[in-house]
Amino acid sequence: MSIPNMNSLRCFYTRANSLLFLRSSFSPVTIPVRRLSSVFDSLSNQTVSSISDVDTKTQASPGIAKGAISSRGEDKPEEKHRSGRGWDPGEVVMNKKKGKVKTSWVCESCGHSEGQWWGSCRACNKVGTMRRFSEGPESRASGGGGGSEGAGLAWLPEQGVAQPLKLSSVIDGITHQQWRISLPGLFGNEVGRVLGGGLAPGSLILIGGDPGIGKSTLLLQIASIIADGNDLAQPAPVLYVSGEESVDQIGSRADRMKIETDELYLFSSSDLQDILTKAHRLSPRALIIDSIQTVYLKEVTGSAGGLTQVKECTSTLLRFAKKSNVPVFLVGHVTKAGDIAGPRVLEHIVDVVLYMEGEEHSTYRLLRSVKNRFGSTDELGVFEMSQAGLEVVSNPSGIYLSQQNTDSDVLAGLAVAVVMDGSRSFLIEVQALCATGSTVSRHVNGVQASRADMIIAVLMKQAGLRIQESGIFLNVANGMALSETAGDLAIAAAICSSFLEFPIPHGVAFIGEIGLGGEIRTVPRMEKRVSTVAKLGFTKCVVPKSVEKSLKSLGLKEIEIIGCKNLKELINSVFRG
Ligand code: TYD
Ligand code: MG
Repeated sequence: MSIPNMNSLRCFYTRANSLLFLRSSFSPVTIPVRRLSSVFDSLSNQTVSSISDVDTKTQASPGIAKGAISSRGEDKPEEKHRSGRGWDPGEVVMNKKKGKVKTSWVCESCGHSEGQWWGSCRACNKVGTMRRFSEGPESRASGGGGGSEGAGLAWLPEQGVAQPLKLSSVIDGITHQQWRISLPGLFGNEVGRVLGGGLAPGSLILIGGDPGIGKSTLLLQIASIIADGNDLAQPAPVLYVSGEESVDQIGSRADRMKIETDELYLFSSSDLQDILTKAHRLSPRALIIDSIQTVYLKEVTGSAGGLTQVKECTSTLLRFAKKSNVPVFLVGHVTKAGDIAGPRVLEHIVDVVLYMEGEEHSTYRLLRSVKNRFGSTDELGVFEMSQAGLEVVSNPSGIYLSQQNTDSDVLAGLAVAVVMDGSRSFLIEVQALCATGSTVSRHVNGVQASRADMIIAVLMKQAGLRIQESGIFLNVANGMALSETAGDLAIAAAICSSFLEFPIPHGVAFIGEIGLGGEIRTVPRMEKRVSTVAKLGFTKCVVPKSVEKSLKSLGLKEIEIIGCKNLKELINSVFRG
């Protein structure tokens, strides 16, 4: 099963271009980081005190690496750096050494880079995807995964000379629970599961999705639970940086979502050097950048949102995350027309890529992992957008079943299929209509046309169903797409039900693939599918005969397992009596 038009839309759009987001227009005025509670105060017209405590904060946070903490620890780190190491915030982003600017051409689709322009990418063969990528003498050309040295991180601790370590000695120092930052609560567990069992320190996580899908909402909630801590960890600062919304706008959103976390710090800025300087002072447990298309590095050419800026900023943030051990979340936009900042370039650099998906008119949101260096990409989080933000859907398997399903006792042509998406199973409703005398012979929606043709031909030839004179319409409810062969049996059952005008009783589900001989074949993860059907209160499940015994031995008392060898048996057991 897949949600249409979602996975294909992984392109990032250039918000900066549409807003004429020119660097020269930024004011040099320093904008303070503000604690969420003080934003609430200002929203309710109370006196606002500038959050100077952030600048003078000296307490170390558990989120930052030991070396990073000890490298500051002074009230005014700038002074120390200026005098001790000649550090100047204006110089750290990119060393201003004179030298030749290297130009390379990077494919925005796959990230492959070339020294010269080609009409098409020689790696993925796509045409017109090569984009110019200019680099200063100090930046590194990396087609996949390197960080830009010298960018905004002069204050981070030097790592010293690294030595090869024995795996056993590395593992000894880490236990899984201690290593991951656990995300507490129902919401935290769902996000943590998609991340592969909690948040890995020092990881760089990209969250993509259409504009308005709920990325900022998700990250504000994640920021809040990380800042709140849990039984094992005290509350600690989390820095939420937005280049799109003002601090007051984020504050009012948090207010609506009833987030009152004391340790959540909000900052509205697009200057990455400024953001990292503030992050260094705050020593957050996590840093959130909303979005990567709005941040820029002063010393890098191009406007924010362009390929060069996006790639350099991401590489800089990767280096920040690895050196400080602070996990960093990045928001990345996806649009149909997406150009310049191709997602593949970012996907190579970051550790984890999550996509947020959802139907236009549905409140359900899926959080899907498409790349994860620290866990499986099989996981799927299911949420519902409510008045108070995203809420975990406790039993997501039934979200695609329409309410009409309860009327299937009287309505012929409806059958329920069970499909897998990652490790999750979902029930979806297949609808069929056989109309004699229709001018259209066949029309399918949400089912592969060739698959439908095959099943119809098998029903005619092997089950003796005389449907050749009928126009056949097939549809999958709720705009879903059925791509798994596990849905074959439900398609056949729906057609039989409509043709024979025999409604399938409520509470029956169908799982199985149909072969050309009319035989019903087994599909992967039968047990998981059947237990989902049982959990949702279904009373009967039609399965291939070959797995009937093993499924009965599962001991699912509340559901009757009906094994069928072929389509004739299916018709005899379901549509007779
Ligand atoms: P948002 O997180 O701003 O989307 P993105 O960052 O991906 O662009 O979410 C925007 C949508 O979410 C908006 O249409 C309103 C809706 N929403 C709710 O329904 N409830 C809420 O509590 C919040 C915060 C947003
Ligand atoms: Mg947003």
